Amino acid sequence: MEQVNQLKFKRLFSPLSLRGCILPNRIMSTAAVTRLASEDGHVTEAIKERYQRLARGGLGAMVVEAAVVLPSRSSFNLRVSDDQFILELQDFVQSIHRVNPDVKIGLQLIHFLKVARSGWRQKVEDLKPEEIAVIPGQFAGGAVRARTAGFDFVELHMAHFTTLASFLSLVNKRKDEFGGDFEGRVKLPTEVVLATRRGVGEDFAVGVRILGEEFTKEGNTLL
Ligand SMILES: Cc1cc2nc3c(=O)[nH]c(=O)nc-3n(C[C@H](O)[C@H](O)[C@H](O)COP(=O)(O)O)c2cc1C
Repeated sequence: MEQVNQLKFKRLFSPLSLRGCILPNRIMSTAAVTRLASEDGHVTEAIKERYQRLARGGLGAMVVEAAVVLPSRSSFNLRVSDDQFILELQDFVQSIHRVNPDVKIGLQLIHFLKVARSGWRQKVEDLKPEEIAVIPGQFAGGAVRARTAGFDFVELHMAHFTTLASFLSLVNKRKDEFGGDFEGRVKLPTEVVLATRRGVGEDFAVGVRILGEEFTKEGNTLL
């Protein structure tokens, strides 16, 4: 059965090279938070087992769920905000490669705005210039740690409710250089990409997840 499918869908089962990262086929799983990390963001046996199971299916690439690049607390999400997480992330990657040596493993990097229990949500308009200035470095730091830990690529999360998605959104009403027109809205995300590239070097794949359709009032839309 496997062979029949491979003959029928030749391209799907052919390798793809991205900056030296060779995916054995073009089937990739997207990031999905499992909440199997510990409450303070550490790798657990349960999370290792979850991704080992996925790897056994034979996909070409997997994006491991969003790992937090900023120091703020975020329960049950993986963290890559500090060097202390490198060794356990290395063990995590190795545990997946043990069951599937060919699958390419990426770590998704996330930065989010604050949300309070009261329902209050921080908006991009609330961020002070000095708070914006540290964000590219936080992503670059997370990407370098991911590479050091042995991940094959990183994905910058610029979709859904994340900080960078909120900058890209038409709902971004900042009056300074980081908002307003297209140039303003892409400024911070572009700085993040450039800082990440400078950090990891040229020979490492860096992906970006963006929204085509925001499904929010006045947001970007495909329609
Ligand atoms: C529980 C859950 C957690 C998710 N976490 C992430 C995430 O960390 N990063 C991300 O980019 N997408 C995340 N997603 C979105 C998925 O990657 C995917 O786009 C979404 O589930 C739609 O695909 P589907 O129709 O195959 O489920 C999550 C989805 C679910 C259901």
